[in-house]
Amino acid sequence: MSTPRSHMVVLSALLGAVGCSSGKGGASGQGGASSNGGSGGAFGSGGVVGSGGAIGSGGVSRSGGVSSTGGLTSTGGVTGSGGVTGSGGATGSGGTIGSGGRGSGGANGTGGATSTGGSTGTGGTTSAAGATGRGGANGTDGANGTGGAVGSGGATGIDAGPGNGCPAGDAGVVTSATINNTGPWNDTTGKHIQAHGGGFLKVCDTWYWFGEDKTLNTNGTGNFHAISCYASKDLVTWEHRNSVVTTSTDPILNNVNLIIERPKVIYNASTKMYVMWAHWDMEACSGANGGYCDSEAVVFTSPTVDGNYKYEKHFQPGGNASRDCTLWQEPDGTAYFVSTGAQGQTSAGTFSQTQVYQLASDYLTVQNTTKIWANDTREAYAFWKVSGKYYGISSGQTGWAPNQAAYLTSTGSITGPWNTSFTGVGVNNSTWSSQPTYVIPIVGSQTTTYIYAGDLWNSNNLSLSTYLWLPFTFDGTKWSLVYSAQWSINLATGVVTTN
Ligand code: GAL
Repeated sequence: MSTPRSHMVVLSALLGAVGCSSGKGGASGQGGASSNGGSGGAFGSGGVVGSGGAIGSGGVSRSGGVSSTGGLTSTGGVTGSGGVTGSGGATGSGGTIGSGGRGSGGANGTGGATSTGGSTGTGGTTSAAGATGRGGANGTDGANGTGGAVGSGGATGIDAGPGNGCPAGDAGVVTSATINNTGPWNDTTGKHIQAHGGGFLKVCDTWYWFGEDKTLNTNGTGNFHAISCYASKDLVTWEHRNSVVTTSTDPILNNVNLIIERPKVIYNASTKMYVMWAHWDMEACSGANGGYCDSEAVVFTSPTVDGNYKYEKHFQPGGNASRDCTLWQEPDGTAYFVSTGAQGQTSAGTFSQTQVYQLASDYLTVQNTTKIWANDTREAYAFWKVSGKYYGISSGQTGWAPNQAAYLTSTGSITGPWNTSFTGVGVNNSTWSSQPTYVIPIVGSQTTTYIYAGDLWNSNNLSLSTYLWLPFTFDGTKWSLVYSAQWSINLATGVVTTN
C-alpha cells in the first residue's frame, strides 16, 4: 500500500502435523524390514493404530501429538503411539503400545513395548516395523524388533480407521527438495503462486500453504480478493487446491476496501476444525486514506484443511488494535495468537507492542492472558522452538518496503520472558529485502531444519511479489541465514544437502 503502515504482525504458527490414519506406518513408515530398532522411525507412524503419520503424528517436532491419541492432530497420544510423553517426542519413549511416528521412540527415545525406535532410539521389545520403514538412524533393534511385513500401523491403535482424512499408508514420503529462490515460484498449472504473507500446516504427508492471493492487486494496493491454499508433498510442487476464503464467503467480505492479510491455520483436535486467523482491516474506511483504521483480527473455520472456510467474526482481541499476526500451537494443543498493536492504535504510523494472546480451547477467541513486549515496534513475527527455547523473527514497520528482520529469544515460553535485544541473521544483518512470514520446521530422522520463509514484496505490483526461503543454521548460540539462490534438503533426514 502506498501509505506505509506500520503494524502488522506476523504470526507463525507451527505446523501441527496431523496424525494419519491407520495402517500407516507402512510404506515409509517405520521400522522396516531392514531396520534396526523396530520401526518408529523417521516418519513415524505406525502405531498401533496408526497414528503416526508422516512426521505426522507425533507432531512435527513436538512430540507426540497434541495430546491425544492418534488422530488428526495427534498421534502419539497418551497411550497411543508414543505414549505418555508423546509419541516419542524428542526425548520421549514410545508408549506401551506406541507406534512409530516421530513418535514412537523419539529422537532419543526408546521404543515402547510394541513400538519402534526413534531416530536414535532403540526398538521396542516386540516392535513391528513397516514394510519399508526403518528403525532409528542409530537405533538398536529391540528384542524382536525388526520391522514387520506390514508395518506398524496397528490394528488396534487409536487413530486407526477413517476419520482423519489421511489415506492409509501415506506416511513417510521420502524425497529431496530443491528450493529455487530465483523462481519461478509457480504452481502445477504454471501460474505464479499467490500465497503471500503465508502460513504452513502439515497434514499427514502433505504441506498446505495458505496466503494472500494478490493476483488482482496489480499496483501497490493490497485490498482483499481471496485467500488461497496450495498443497505439496515435497515443498516444491505446489497444487492450487482452493481459494478457501473469497469475497463470496460471506456478504461482509464483499467490500472493495477490505484487507485480509497474513492468514495462518492450525487444527483444533477437540472441535475437529481447522481454524484460520488473519489480519482484518479497512472495512470501515476507504482504501485511499484508510490508514488501516480497523486494526482487527478475523477468524474462519473449516472441517477440512482445504475446504471453503466459514467466516466466524472479526474483532479487536482484548480490545487492542491488531495488525500483522500469527498463530503458535504447542504440542498439548494450547494455542496462541500473536499480533502487533495496542489499545487505540488504529491509524497510520508506527505501532508498538506485540501481544501474545492465549486462545480459548475452541481457538475462536482470546483469553485474558496477554503478554507484551513493551515498546517493541515490530511486526511480521514468525516463531520456532528448539530444545525448550523459543525464537521469534520479525521485521521493522516499513509497509511494503523492506527492512532487515531480526530475532528475539525466550527461555520460558511463547509468552516470554523474551529478551529485548534483536539479533540479525544474515551477513551485515541482511534478510535480502524479505519480510518474515513463517518458519517451517522440517522434521527428519537425523535433524530438524527450520526454514525461514519470507515475502519479497513488489510494492509497485503486489501480484508479482515473490518469496525467499532459506534454511536457518545454529552454531549453538546464534541463528543465521546465508543467502542461496538454490539449495536442497533431504525431507526424510531433515538434512540440508546443498546450500
Ligand atoms: C506491512 C505488513 C504487510 C502489509 C503492508 C502494507 O508492514 O507487514 O502485511 O500490511 O505493511 O503496507
